[in-house]
Amino acid sequence: MAGNIKIVVCKTSEEVAKKCAGMFIEQVRNKPASVLGFATGSTPEKTYAEIARLSKAEKVSFAKVTSFNLDEYWGLDGDHDQSYRYFMNDKLFNHIDIRTWNTNVLNGKARFPAVECQAYEDKIVSVGGVDLWILGIGNNGHIAFNEPGSPVDSRTRLVSLTQSTIESNSDGRFFKNANEVPRCALSTGIGTIRDAKKLVLLATGAKKADAVAKAVEGAFSPDVPASLLQDHPDCTFILDTDSASKLKK
Ligand code: GLP
Repeated sequence: MAGNIKIVVCKTSEEVAKKCAGMFIEQVRNKPASVLGFATGSTPEKTYAEIARLSKAEKVSFAKVTSFNLDEYWGLDGDHDQSYRYFMNDKLFNHIDIRTWNTNVLNGKARFPAVECQAYEDKIVSVGGVDLWILGIGNNGHIAFNEPGSPVDSRTRLVSLTQSTIESNSDGRFFKNANEVPRCALSTGIGTIRDAKKLVLLATGAKKADAVAKAVEGAFSPDVPASLLQDHPDCTFILDTDSASKLKK
């Protein structure tokens, strides 16, 4: 499948962040009560700093925004400094006027994961769905914690992480060693993500070049979860030159 994915290539990761932050600011300016989807990982950090800067500089308020995050490590509570709740507070929520009670991150300590996951799905539907969701991509093509093999219609659920993801997330940027990384996570599904009205996936650095090329120009296949975005009606990949280096076109 050739796919509908729109590609924007920027010279630097700073430019990637500016482009993406601009999309979020425009979204909230045009619809103050937007429903936004957020992601974690090192790639969106600069975007979050830029959203916070622009929100102040251009007086765009996030007070009416509702947000949903992609995923959370299973077994970590929100106070753990490697939890995705902690990351979001630290990198974005504490720097804009979004109301904490309107920010949704899956509870990694939920007693009944299936109930937590279904409630999350229901809550997304009850607020009218996600308007704009930012995504990263794993070196193996995963989105959120949907590892290779995840079905196109998967929903929020408890998943196991692959060894490659455990290793990528313990290279010193986050966990210090692989033993500290939880083996499971709660993750929105590919179907949950595909339901968003607009998607923007960011990738920077040469390590992502293979995954990006397969996602955009390879087969539409659960083997590369990000390729399952090819038939989304409004999906843009914002890339730096390194991550775009293996694209043929
Ligand atoms: C984790 C997250 C993903 C993210 C990926 C890549 O696995 N669950 O949502 O896209 O890391 O992270 P990074 O941007 O640090 O390369």
